[in-house]
Amino acid sequence: MILVTGGAGYIGSHVVLALQAAGFEVLVYDNLVYGHAEFVPAPMLIRGDLEDRVGLARLFAAHPIEAVIHMAAYAYVGESVTKPAVYYRNNVYGTLCLLEAMVEAGVQQIVFSSTCATYGEPEQIPITETHPQRPINPYGFTKLVVERMLRDFDRAYGLRSVVFRYFNAAGADPDARVGEDHDPETHIIPLVLDVALGRRPHITVFGCDYDTPDGTCVRDYIHVSDLADAHVLGLKYLKSGGPTEVFNLGNGSGFSVQQVIDTAGQVAGRKIGVQMGARRPGDPATLVGSAERAREILGWQPRFADLQTIVRTAWTWHQKRFGS
Ligand SMILES: NC(=O)c1ccc[n+]([C@@H]2O[C@H](COP(=O)([O-])OP(=O)(O)OC[C@H]3O[C@@H](n4cnc5c(N)ncnc54)[C@H](O)[C@@H]3O)[C@@H](O)[C@H]2O)c1
Repeated sequence: MILVTGGAGYIGSHVVLALQAAGFEVLVYDNLVYGHAEFVPAPMLIRGDLEDRVGLARLFAAHPIEAVIHMAAYAYVGESVTKPAVYYRNNVYGTLCLLEAMVEAGVQQIVFSSTCATYGEPEQIPITETHPQRPINPYGFTKLVVERMLRDFDRAYGLRSVVFRYFNAAGADPDARVGEDHDPETHIIPLVLDVALGRRPHITVFGCDYDTPDGTCVRDYIHVSDLADAHVLGLKYLKSGGPTEVFNLGNGSGFSVQQVIDTAGQVAGRKIGVQMGARRPGDPATLVGSAERAREILGWQPRFADLQTIVRTAWTWHQKRFGS
C-alpha cells in the first residue's frame, strides 16, 4: 500500500489515478485545507495533518504502508514571504513529523515533491539537477531544507528517496475526472481560462519587455498526468532497490506567457482580455528545465508535451468544474 500525503490536491489527485492504473493500493492523507475530498474515492481518504505525530504513528501501525509519496505542503510563493513561519512549520516541521513516523514504522522509501524554486535565479538554461540551489523565497527554502533532511535520513536511517523538482504543473486528467482548482488561484493557465469563461475580466501580463522572442516570460509547463506517471516510475525505481536520486520534471521546451494566452484563446474559441502590467521582482525572463536524467534513469516519456494538448485538457476540466 502506498501513502500519498496531499493526495486530495491538484497534483496528488492525478498521482492517485496513475497509481491505481498501475495496480497499486493507495491511501491518501490530507487535511483538506487546500484539497478537495471529492477528488479522491471516499474509502481511500484519511483526513489528517502532517503535524499530528500521534495520528501518523497510528496510521503507519494500522496499514501495511510500503512507501510514501509526499506531496502535502503549502505552495504560495508570495504568502511564504509574508508568513514564513507558517511555511517552515507546515513544509519543514510537518515533513519532519512524517519522516520520524516513517523511521519508527520501518518504512524506507519516499518520493518527494520538490520544486524548481530551489534553484533561484537561473545561471544557465536549461536548468539541470547540478545547477546551484539558491532559493530566493521562503517557499523554495522550505523545499531545499527537506531535500537536505532526506539526504541525511538516508545516510543515518537508510530511508531512500526520489526527489522530483517540478517545473510548472499544468493541464488536467484527459478524462476530466480531476483537475486544477486552487483557491486562491495563481497559475496562469487556469487564470486565463477563467477569463475565457467570463469569471475574470482580463489577465494581467507582468512585463512584456523581457529578452525573450515575444518579450513575455518563458516558463516550462509539464502536463500533470505526465508528472503523475513519473511518480509511478519513481516508486518502482525505489522498490527495485534504486539509490536516493534527484530528478527535474519539466517539458524541456518553454512557452511564453503570450503563447499560453494565444493558445487558450484558440482552444476556447474566445477572446482573452489582456492587461499589460509591470515586471514583478524576482521573475526571471526564462525558466526551463532539463528532464534528461528522468528520461535516462527512469525511462520517463511525457505523453502530453505540446501546449495545445496541455491547454485543451485544462479547458475541458475548467468548463466541467466552473462553467455554468
Ligand atoms: N503546482 C505546481 O506547479 C508545483 C510546482 C512545484 C512543486 N509543487 C509541489 O507539489 C505539491 C503539490 O502541489 P499542488 O499544486 O497539487 O498543491 P495543492 O495545494 O493542490 O495540494 C497540496 C495538498 O496538500 C494538503 N496539505 C497541505 N498541508 C498539509 C498538512 N499539513 N497535512 C495534510 N495535508 C496537507 C492540501 O490540503 C492539499 O490537498 C506541493 O508539495 C508543491 O509544493 C507544485
